[in-house]
Amino acid sequence: MATLTTATGSAHSRILGIGAYRPRRVVPNSEVVEAIDSSDEWIQQRSGIKTRGFADDDETVTMMSVAAAKQALDHAGLEPEQIDCVIVATVSHLMQTPAAATLIAHELGTKGAAAFDISAACAGFCHGVSLAADMIRGGSSRNVLVVGVERLSDITSPTDRGTAFIFADGAGAVVVGPSDTPGIGPVVWGSDGEHYDYIRQNHDWRDVIASDSPAMPHLVMEGSAVFRWAAFEMAKVAKEALDRAGITADQLDVFVPHQANNRITDTMARSMKLPDTVRIARDIVDQGNTSAASVPMALERMVADGQARSGDTALLIAFGAGLAYAAQVVTLP
Ligand code: COA
Repeated sequence: MATLTTATGSAHSRILGIGAYRPRRVVPNSEVVEAIDSSDEWIQQRSGIKTRGFADDDETVTMMSVAAAKQALDHAGLEPEQIDCVIVATVSHLMQTPAAATLIAHELGTKGAAAFDISAACAGFCHGVSLAADMIRGGSSRNVLVVGVERLSDITSPTDRGTAFIFADGAGAVVVGPSDTPGIGPVVWGSDGEHYDYIRQNHDWRDVIASDSPAMPHLVMEGSAVFRWAAFEMAKVAKEALDRAGITADQLDVFVPHQANNRITDTMARSMKLPDTVRIARDIVDQGNTSAASVPMALERMVADGQARSGDTALLIAFGAGLAYAAQVVTLP
C-alpha cells in the first residue's frame, strides 16, 4: 500500500480583514407598515429596527459580495490572487446552480480559487469562519475569503406580518489566514432539525411548478417560537463558546450576535451576565436582519465606528433556519 503525502497547515488562523456592503436604498418603517397593518412604534419596540437596506436591481448578490470582499482584502493588505478559497454563505442566490461563489471569485480577480456556497441560513457566516479556520490549519488553503450575503427582499412577502419588517439585504466579508497565535477559538455549533419548519420557504419549488397559478415562494416564520429558542438556548451556546476558548465574560471586549432582533440580543446578554464594558453590536437598528450577512456587517460597523479595535476579543454567534447555529470567539484584526 502506497503511503500518501498529506497537507500541513498553519498552527493557527485568524481574521485578517473585514468588509461590508450596505444597499444604497434605506427604507424606513413608515414604508413597510401599511402593507402589514403595523406601526413604526410597534416595529421599534418589538425588534429595534428603524430602517433597513433593500437592494436595487444592480445590487446583486455578486456585486454586493465583491464590494464587501474588496474592502476586506484592503483591510487585510492582500491582493485577490492571494485568496485560494472563497466560501459564500447565502440563502437568497436565486440560481439553483451554479453556486454564487465561483462568479464572485472570478469577478474579484482570484486566480481560479476554490469556491463554493454553504446554506446554513442566518448561521451560515459563522459556519464559514469555522470551515476557513480548519482549512487553514489542515493545510487545504492559506487565505480564505468568507462572505455572508443576502437579498432577502427577493424572498420576503411585503404583506407577511411576521417577516416583512425584519428581513433585509446586504453583504459582509472577512479574510481568514494563517497566524502564529490562536485567533479563532473552537466553534460550538449544532442543529435542531425537530424544529425544521420554524423558519422556512412557504412552498416547495415542486409545488410551485405544479400549481395552476404559480407564485414566488417567500419566507415564513413562527416568530414567538424562534424568539424563545434564540433568546434562551443561544445564550447557553454563546457561554460554551467562551468556555471552549478559555475566556470569561469579563475578558470579552465585543459581542456580535446575529442581528435577529434587539430583544433577543438583550435577553442573551442578560443571561450571559455580560459586564457593561462589553460593546454590543446593534447594526439591526439601521440594517434590519440580513441573515448570513448580519454578523460580518455588524462587525464591520463596529470597527468603522471605533467601537471595536484591533486586538479586541469578540464573541460571534449566529442562529436561524434549520434550526442551525454556530459560535466562536475571535481576535479582531
Ligand atoms: N405589526 C403589528 N402587530 C403585529 C405584527 C406586526 N407586524 N405582527 C403581529 N402583531 C400583533 C399580533 O396580531 C398580536 O396581537 P394580539 O396580541 O392583539 O393578538 C401581537 O402583535 C403579538 O403577536 P406575536 O406573533 O405573538 O408577536 P411577538 O411578540 O412574538 O412579536 C416578532 C413578533 C416577529 C417581533 C417576534 O416573535 C420575534 O422577534 N421573533 C423572532 C424573530 C427573529 O428574530 N427571527 C430571526 C431569527 S433568524
